[in-house]
Amino acid sequence: MKETPFNPSGFAMDEGFTDRVDELKWLVGGARRHAKLLAYGPRRMGKSSCLLRAGEILKREHDGHVLYVDLSRYSNLVDAANALLKEADAALHGWSRWRNFLIQAMKGVTFRAGTISVGLEMKDRDKSDHVTVFLEVLDSLNTAASKRKGPLVVAIDEFQDIIRLGADRAEWALRSALQGHRSLGYFLAGSEAHLIEKMTSAQGAFFELLETKAIGPIAREEMARWIDTQFARERLKAAGVGAACCEYAGDRTRDIVDLARRTYERALSKRSADRTTVEAALEELIADKEDPFFRIWSSLPTAQQAVLQAIAAEHGRELGATAVRRRFGIKSTGESSHAANALVEKGHLQRLGRGAFVFDSPFFKRWVKGLSAADAA
Ligand SMILES: Nc1ncnc2c1ncn2[C@@H]1O[C@H](COP(=O)(O)OP(=O)(O)OP(=O)(O)O)[C@@H](O)[C@H]1O
Ligand SMILES: [Mg+2]
Repeated sequence: MKETPFNPSGFAMDEGFTDRVDELKWLVGGARRHAKLLAYGPRRMGKSSCLLRAGEILKREHDGHVLYVDLSRYSNLVDAANALLKEADAALHGWSRWRNFLIQAMKGVTFRAGTISVGLEMKDRDKSDHVTVFLEVLDSLNTAASKRKGPLVVAIDEFQDIIRLGADRAEWALRSALQGHRSLGYFLAGSEAHLIEKMTSAQGAFFELLETKAIGPIAREEMARWIDTQFARERLKAAGVGAACCEYAGDRTRDIVDLARRTYERALSKRSADRTTVEAALEELIADKEDPFFRIWSSLPTAQQAVLQAIAAEHGRELGATAVRRRFGIKSTGESSHAANALVEKGHLQRLGRGAFVFDSPFFKRWVKGLSAADAA
């Protein structure tokens, strides 16, 4: 099949990347002055893609490098340290001083079959030793950065996971490393709002250390225009398709791209698409997610199911109202707020303000709505 410009499961690259002008300016400018930056925002908004795109720009225009590690992918910090070493070696290997210099800076590092790593026996040690290894890699990169002209940045994605992976107070150890690293830039990114708020609050480890920027939705008109342009490049007739994708998929970039991709695949055979094609693609998308949605649904207590149904029926701002509670079988206001809070914790709902909630996924919302529609029929 023809390659699509819409790739909802990887990172947005090349033609698949649009907008984020301010964010990129902030990241690239920060990297050049070795700043410590935190990009935060809801899931699927495009945070990781921004960091990597800034890396492409730094490489192309400033002889710089962004070394990327996503902490959510690892079960221990030794693996994360090795992933970072691999990135660093790939980026800096052409620079002859790098390996010599690394051996001097890190005791536990070994070279085998051309690859550089920390011995896996480290994994048998305590978590506090794992933290030390990870920070040693950062220390060595800071020294490398001090000997280079172009900016060197470590991007730590889902950085709040340092708490999950590290020993007690690992986040404080990371703070002092960042504070001491005058030559190395940092891009931190994360989506767990409550943890990040805590970590950057007056009592948190990162208080007044980081420059922060919220990564919000790409403006609808921009997103719609970009989608339409991709269809036009393939000479597909697609009136209003971009706008319809944005309308049905909500404000998360990935959801919009997911719907655009399915619409595009349908359009390729018919050479055209319109609003009804987007609607058909949406039905297909939700049908494909039937299994995971049903698994989530059946794992929830009945009170949480009732709250989801009420919110799917557009009562997310008035869950406590007697009429709403009666209709959906919610016993008390206490029960509704307890259930809604639990659903926020699980990532299925987002809190808009006191007592107001919306679904995290527009697709899950439609699926839940479909359950009640089937009952009514
Ligand atoms: N600037 C962009 N232009 C076009 N598409 C984008 C852009 N940013 C993100 N996307 C789309 O959204 C998807 C998710 O992006 P990304 O993984 O960067 O988001 P994230 O906020 O890091 O998500 P997560 O919370 O799951 O880690 C990408 O695969 C891509 O399809
Ligand atoms: Mg991400």
